[in-house]
Amino acid sequence: MVLKVWMSHGDQLDRAPDGFKVIGCTQTSPFAAIINEEKYLFGIQFHPEVTHTPRGKDILKNFVASVCECQTNWTMESFIDKEIGRIRQIVGPNGQVVGAVSGGVDSTVAAKLMKEAIGDRFHAVLVDNGVMRLNECQTVKKQLGDHLGINLKVVDASDKFLDRLKGVTDPEKKRKIIGNTFIEVFESEAAKIDLENKESGHGNIEYLLQGTLYPDVIESISFKGPSATIKTHHNVGGLTKNMKLKLIEPLRELFKDEVRELGKILSIDEDLIWRHPFPGPGIAIRILGEVTPSQVAIVRAADHIFIEEIKKAGLYRKISQAYAALLPVKAVGVMGDKRTYEQVIALRAVETTDFMTADWFPFPYDVLKRISNRIINEVKGVNRVVYDVSSKPPATIEWE
Ligand code: XMP
Repeated sequence: MVLKVWMSHGDQLDRAPDGFKVIGCTQTSPFAAIINEEKYLFGIQFHPEVTHTPRGKDILKNFVASVCECQTNWTMESFIDKEIGRIRQIVGPNGQVVGAVSGGVDSTVAAKLMKEAIGDRFHAVLVDNGVMRLNECQTVKKQLGDHLGINLKVVDASDKFLDRLKGVTDPEKKRKIIGNTFIEVFESEAAKIDLENKESGHGNIEYLLQGTLYPDVIESISFKGPSATIKTHHNVGGLTKNMKLKLIEPLRELFKDEVRELGKILSIDEDLIWRHPFPGPGIAIRILGEVTPSQVAIVRAADHIFIEEIKKAGLYRKISQAYAALLPVKAVGVMGDKRTYEQVIALRAVETTDFMTADWFPFPYDVLKRISNRIINEVKGVNRVVYDVSSKPPATIEWE
């Protein structure tokens, strides 16, 4: 039988171990799958877990259910009950937990799970860093606070962030400034909440909630991997060092699709569940060059139109991530009978499953035309729109 599998390795066996016989090979790998029938041991050299191995899931399912005879009785409902019980046990009857939320699906689902487990003893903090999308803070506040009933505090620190970003053009510096300022603001808010709690006779904040998913766990294990070294990702992990808080990570065994399923059961809005990922440093890394309030306003407006039109065209879920970036160049244009000399918006939309590789999305021309017309007509300061047709690699998804 011929099976398509994905292999990527430098080393390979040059003989099967004693007691093993070969049950699968490729043209270049003579020991791609081996078995020890007596001890009932199996070994494979290819990757069954990747999408490039079309029947990988069947192989894993067969191994778990038939070979290991595990029962397939794991359900999302049972996960919720177990996790809520586990959180209550860890935190205790008076313990308090703090966590940052961004409006992304991971932090929202984690926060809602905490709310279900310990109610208002979970304190969510949303830091407005001045580089979020148009009306983002208000929307998150409405969704998490009003709709999901999460105990949420919104801190407007936009001036502080924008002040520190003044004159900075280097992408890594932007990331560091935003990451460090975030930690500072969040810690100070958490300290205030802790004080208020103590004054009203409640318990101490002992835990920090993080929406870590299983792929993050894997990625942080392979810490020398490309993802860790290409860019310093905005990671709130640094928080625990200073705050001496213990981490609580209810999603650390789940994949993204499972988090979405969990979100649905926890009655989180579809819109939020399917939201494209948004980087921690926000639109600061989508404004090439210096981040100023006027640049922020331009890219926000263009991005809003872009996403609105993508949704109208029914393409939002087909695209994995889309955004507008503002280029640090000026181009000549003409408006009425006048020459203009204004900025350029670059549109980026990609399809990907793992965000490690990505292809640019093939928009229908009429949709691109509508988007471009609207941005040029409605966003002041922009006279040209370009569409980014670079795949990852060698380009990355973000422009910075
Ligand atoms: P790249 O640009 O590396 O992006 O191809 C891959 C994914 O990671 C997101 N990204 C970030 N997320 N902090 C984040 O939280 C960052 O500094 C950062 N840089 C990139 C990016 O939006 C994409 O989803």
